[in-house]
Amino acid sequence: MDINEAIVNRHSVRQYKDEPIAPEQIAALEALIRECNEESGLRIQLIQDDPDCFKSFLASYGKFKNVRNYIALVGPKSMEDLDEKCGYYGQKIVLEAQMMGLNTCWVGGTYAKGKCSAERTAEERLVCVISIGYGQTQGTERKTKPMSKLCDLPESEMPEWFKEGVKAAMLAPTAINQQSFRISLEDGEPVITAGRGVMIKIDLGIVKYNFEAASGHKCR
Ligand SMILES: Cc1cc2nc3c(=O)[nH]c(=O)nc-3n(C[C@H](O)[C@H](O)[C@H](O)COP(=O)(O)O)c2cc1C
Repeated sequence: MDINEAIVNRHSVRQYKDEPIAPEQIAALEALIRECNEESGLRIQLIQDDPDCFKSFLASYGKFKNVRNYIALVGPKSMEDLDEKCGYYGQKIVLEAQMMGLNTCWVGGTYAKGKCSAERTAEERLVCVISIGYGQTQGTERKTKPMSKLCDLPESEMPEWFKEGVKAAMLAPTAINQQSFRISLEDGEPVITAGRGVMIKIDLGIVKYNFEAASGHKCR
């Protein structure tokens, strides 16, 4: 599976098989997380065998089952664009995990934040988590807003690379599937801006990562 297939095949998965992640996949995830942390200044952590974080009322309400492993997105409170960076690097990890045959779900609300065992100091913030494991299913396709609601440029005027980026952005996960972002082309450069909503800056980072991965063009 290449990254474009991962973008298309990835859906939120909330129910997992009761199986530990294979050691070689743990090693690959740890290496990737180390790389992301060095590049970004974040303190992303892979937390294994910690089911309590998903044993709250909220988690069962959110239909989570057998979540034993998750990725905690932690970073300095003082960091400019902390939420957006978590979105960007978290999605990089999500797509790599998909290519490895693992399933994921971004989780900003329906988990027990107080029980999360990720390390963090008083100067750091836990932004959100991503559940990870072998899904009981591969998840399902969901509705997306039409391209015309997300992008000012008519499809017929889009350069091919830009269209690929927009299609990948439409497949990006967003909180409550709100898809509150706009994509434009300014002097040949793709620009993505966040609209109104919840966890909107995390979404922005996720959407930018998908756009860049599919188009090969860096976004502003
Ligand atoms: C920042 C963020 C926070 C989310 N928080 C939750 C959550 O608390 N509980 C939940 O069940 N799903 C959560 N989701 C998953 C979204 O509902 C899901 O990604 C969206 O409906 C699109 O579906 P898809 O991921 O299958 O494309 C979150 C997604 C994002 C991006």
